[in-house]
Amino acid sequence: MAFWLNACVNLRLSEQELKEQGISYLFLDPSNFDAEMEKRNLGYKHHDIVELNSNTPNLDILLSKFRREHFHRDDESRYVLDGDGFFDIRSLDDRWIRISVTDGDYISIPAFRYHKFELTQIERIKAVRFFKDDHSWEPIYRGEQNGK
Ligand code: LAC
Ligand code: NI
Repeated sequence: MAFWLNACVNLRLSEQELKEQGISYLFLDPSNFDAEMEKRNLGYKHHDIVELNSNTPNLDILLSKFRREHFHRDDESRYVLDGDGFFDIRSLDDRWIRISVTDGDYISIPAFRYHKFELTQIERIKAVRFFKDDHSWEPIYRGEQNGK
């Protein structure tokens, strides 16, 4: 589900609105999912798997980083294999869009778009990450360096 965070009710974004915002948010059937194939289809060069759960060393530190508004010079593209999470993503006019992700969801946040991430109460997520570029993954925090 994707909705505007500043609305007094949970105002859902349509697929069209998400597209206009440059955000991809799709369900890809897990029984057919092939990371290698998706990587090629989506035009990415690399992929790996990221896992956050109670066994992750320094989970609190990692989460406190993800909770800070930041962007990357590459897309942030994830396919959720297991677990849940929330992405809060800035709209083109700097409002917040909240997108919840769970098993089978693919999300892509365009490069240079501010966002943040949070786990849900189950505190667990396992996802495939797709990358176009090896050197663009450093987060740029809002208000720091060249972060606006
Ligand atoms: C990241 C996310 C979680 O930068 O925003 O990996
Ligand atoms: Ni990020």
